[in-house]
Amino acid sequence: MKALVLCGGSGTRLRPLSHSMPKQLIPVAGRPVLVHVVENLRELGVEEIGVIVGDWREAIEEVLGDGSAYGARVTYIPQEAPLGLAHCVLIAREFLGEDDFVLYLGDTVLTEGITAVAEEFAAVPSAARLVVQKVADPRAFGVAETDADGRVTRLVEKPSEPATDLAVVGVYFFTAAIHEAVAAVPPSARGEREITDAIQWLVDAGHEVRATVHSGFWRDTGRIGDLLECNRELLNGVRRRIGGRVDGASEITGEVVVEEGAVVVRSRITGPVFIGAGAVVRDSHIGPHTAIGAGCAVEAAGITDSILLPGAGVRRVGGVHASVLARESAAGPAAPRLRLAADRPAWVGAAA
Ligand code: G1P
Repeated sequence: MKALVLCGGSGTRLRPLSHSMPKQLIPVAGRPVLVHVVENLRELGVEEIGVIVGDWREAIEEVLGDGSAYGARVTYIPQEAPLGLAHCVLIAREFLGEDDFVLYLGDTVLTEGITAVAEEFAAVPSAARLVVQKVADPRAFGVAETDADGRVTRLVEKPSEPATDLAVVGVYFFTAAIHEAVAAVPPSARGEREITDAIQWLVDAGHEVRATVHSGFWRDTGRIGDLLECNRELLNGVRRRIGGRVDGASEITGEVVVEEGAVVVRSRITGPVFIGAGAVVRDSHIGPHTAIGAGCAVEAAGITDSILLPGAGVRRVGGVHASVLARESAAGPAAPRLRLAADRPAWVGAAA
């Protein structure tokens, strides 16, 4: 089986964070969302990964490279504009060939993996198998209607009056039957070729489409609050590893990762916490549920339940809580030593 990972969107809901990096590269629990995605795919035994890229191709290539660091082979497939999820499948035709594949939205976080769904897809013949989850308000998602046997009978994109509570998670398993469908559906009212329409086309053409209800943690990282929830959830799975330097005046409690080259001085770190390579934490209280990115500078600060993107600085701020600090941004009465590029706005975003 191959995989097609979508990283072409522009991440408008995460602005201004997504001005300085694509949303798929925003680190949660210290590693980009996209790396968590690739790890889930490797768990399925997938080695051939096609990645649909738009304007952020270079930044994405910098992280994934040729895939060998993750035991995979990555092929980049450029999309000239975000023309829809089905359009991504259309332009990946040559890469996908006649193989089964899993389509995975690059901003999807599933902390418990999807091996069970892949096994069902392999065991029960069908043209497609969708991952769905029961949610309280499915109006922001594709919504599936199923019969008693788990066959999908109808799929509606972001309905104002959902017929069920089954939201379509951004992970889909397909056979080559999907290629005829994506070619057949016209662009929708918003001008995009919708994967939802293509799947409905399969159903209407008499193909079997099935759904698996996934009950583990799932978020698409479209908003600040979702990012923070993913961060909490993934940090709950980290194990203590002190690779950097922690001085004798610091106190480390619980599951804390201090990466190589990071320095912790006179600070109290309460896990789960991740401190990235080259970060410096001095005279501060950090955690729980906080991820400090590589190269961050934190001094005389108190930070809980937050994400500092790489290169961010916090100095003399006591109560940073439920916040995401943008890459190379600075928070404090006076900016710490930071390289603040003109195109990277200093910004502090707190969840609603
Ligand atoms: C897309 C799909 C939608 C699905 C969602 C999951 O929506 O079109 O069916 O439920 O991903 O995250 P988008 O987030 O692109 O608006």
